[in-house]
Amino acid sequence: MAEFRLPRNSRVKKNGTVHTAEGATNVKKFKVYRYNPDSGENPHFDTFEIDLDTCGPMVLDALIKMKSEQDSTLTFRRSCREGICGSCSMNMNGKNGLACTTAIEDLKGDIRITPLPHMEVIKDLVPDFTHFYAQYASIEPWLKTKTTTPSGKERLQSPEEREKLDGLYECILCACCSTSCPSYWWNSDKFLGPAILLQAYRWLADSRDELTGERLDELEDPFRLYRCHTIMNCANACPKGLNPARAIAEIKKLEAERQV
Ligand code: SF4
Ligand code: F3S
Ligand code: FES
Repeated sequence: MAEFRLPRNSRVKKNGTVHTAEGATNVKKFKVYRYNPDSGENPHFDTFEIDLDTCGPMVLDALIKMKSEQDSTLTFRRSCREGICGSCSMNMNGKNGLACTTAIEDLKGDIRITPLPHMEVIKDLVPDFTHFYAQYASIEPWLKTKTTTPSGKERLQSPEEREKLDGLYECILCACCSTSCPSYWWNSDKFLGPAILLQAYRWLADSRDELTGERLDELEDPFRLYRCHTIMNCANACPKGLNPARAIAEIKKLEAERQV
């Protein structure tokens, strides 16, 4: 279970606005992290009372209801609302996850929502992914080859070779894993973190990619790869059920094998 940590710019003042649900009988309280860099004020939590009888079942439904009916300035990312795009990742009651696939009824008591831990915050629940995406670009996440493509043909894979990508290709880059990893909290300037390392292994494991050695050279670094200390928060945090820790162990194995 990921330890709860506030985002980086997080001196939270005690009292925020309370938005009530007048006349409702089935009310759930949401305490939502608010931060507006233009206001010059410290972050704080606002309380939103939501009538569950007129709200969809997921945390994202509640956020959309807050924004449409109570405070249109509430800011968060979302797109697909079905766990595919990775936009709505946030921390709910101390655990990272996707708001669109997290059921309100599975969260006990008042629901506390903050941005992903230990990220810079742009506004409210929107973290800054600039560095995360730059790290993703650094592993060159595309098929790289030295030989020319057989004329008029695709580069083929056997079913067994294709199977090796299962558990990797499903990653939606939501960053729930990386932002639950203490090693990434303290060293995210240099450590690639579980999400990007899982993506790196996705290309190492691809039978069609011909630059495995060069990719391993790039990763063989005391910080980029070896700052993973097998803490395992990443595997617990992944909303897609993936295991970045296992992918990292596989990379370490490949690095070790080529030493002998
Ligand atoms: Fe999100 Fe899982 Fe990919 Fe990490 S491995 S970025 S938690 S989908
Ligand atoms: Fe972090 Fe996962 Fe390694 S939580 S230390 S990347 S096993
Ligand atoms: Fe796309 Fe939640 S809105 S994953």
